[in-house]
Amino acid sequence: MLDRFSVNGNAWSGRILVTGSGGCIGAWALALLVRAGVDVTGFDLDPAPRRPGLLMTEEELGRVSWVAGDIADPDAVREAAAGCQAIIHLAALQVPFCKADPIGGARVNVVGTANVFEAARQEGIRRVGYASSIAAHSFFPDSPYLKTLYGAYKTCGEQIAAVYWQDWQVPSVGLRPSVVQGVGRDQGVTSKTTVAIQAAALGVPYTVPFRGPVSFLHAGEVASAFIQIAARDGDGAPVFDINGPSTTVEAIVNQVRTLAPDSNIAIDGDPLPFPADLSDDPVRAHLGDYGSVAPAEGVEGTFLAFRALAEEGRMVASDIR
Ligand SMILES: NC(=O)c1ccc[n+]([C@@H]2O[C@H](COP(=O)([O-])OP(=O)(O)OC[C@H]3O[C@@H](n4cnc5c(N)ncnc54)[C@H](O)[C@@H]3O)[C@@H](O)[C@H]2O)c1
Repeated sequence: MLDRFSVNGNAWSGRILVTGSGGCIGAWALALLVRAGVDVTGFDLDPAPRRPGLLMTEEELGRVSWVAGDIADPDAVREAAAGCQAIIHLAALQVPFCKADPIGGARVNVVGTANVFEAARQEGIRRVGYASSIAAHSFFPDSPYLKTLYGAYKTCGEQIAAVYWQDWQVPSVGLRPSVVQGVGRDQGVTSKTTVAIQAAALGVPYTVPFRGPVSFLHAGEVASAFIQIAARDGDGAPVFDINGPSTTVEAIVNQVRTLAPDSNIAIDGDPLPFPADLSDDPVRAHLGDYGSVAPAEGVEGTFLAFRALAEEGRMVASDIR
């Protein structure tokens, strides 16, 4: 589905730093940028590009400059950012990992974000896109949604961005993704609808542990939005929701059953404690067209991609968590 998103490689005269490049959105961002001929540095704790390798050829992976580093280490981040024109900051620990290790979560999600903004300030980088989250909505006044440490750290990241603009005019755009789906989405509370598609493609039984409304924000769609942010100098520090189309767990699972009639996918549990129908109008007005994927196309495309990876022996049942 990479063909669905177009990237104008002429938008950059320099290198882009992608943090969290070994993650789901990072993999899609790298794949889209490399196909457009853009110079990219991928920064991640884990130098083995497992998820990018699901989307990119060996030759494409070889065009990325890989840096193994800790986002919580200011010197490592500054060194990786030196000479870059743009930063797409995705490195983070998700909800369960922050709950299991609150201090580690703060190091990665808060200190790491401060390191990125400080590196941007020191290096004069005026194109910074960073991932906040839908989980930040829980801290809006009178919000009915579940408060998590992850959401607290992401809220703090938005405040860091606001102060770097106020005090030093470091511009940025923050995105609050909803439920990201697609190849490479294999960890975090909201990954389970994608895991169900993967399980069906591999012929493994699986139960999605939540039901009801869910957004279907394709990983390529959100990666493409981050790339649009990195394609021009910023002004201010706005933050936008990015929801993608809304659907339901039931609709996704029903489509999976049609695609794989022998599959054994069930649904259990309560609805997700996050909104699933936020408007993308403000982010689209700000960024312009960054592409879109309807849920039915996304489910089918993801299913076919998982099936092809399984047939090539690049994905096995034990990959399902
Ligand atoms: N996937 C979603 O549905 C979703 C929703 C809202 C927000 N987000 C945010 O978008 C961003 C990307 O999400 P994703 O789904 O690609 O996440 P992911 O969990 O797949 O990837 C995160 C990456 O960050 C890396 N990382 C963790 N600790 C690090 C450290 N100390 N130093 C360097 N790298 C480190 C991990 O190795 C991993 O490759 C994250 O900031 C996430 O919080 C994601």
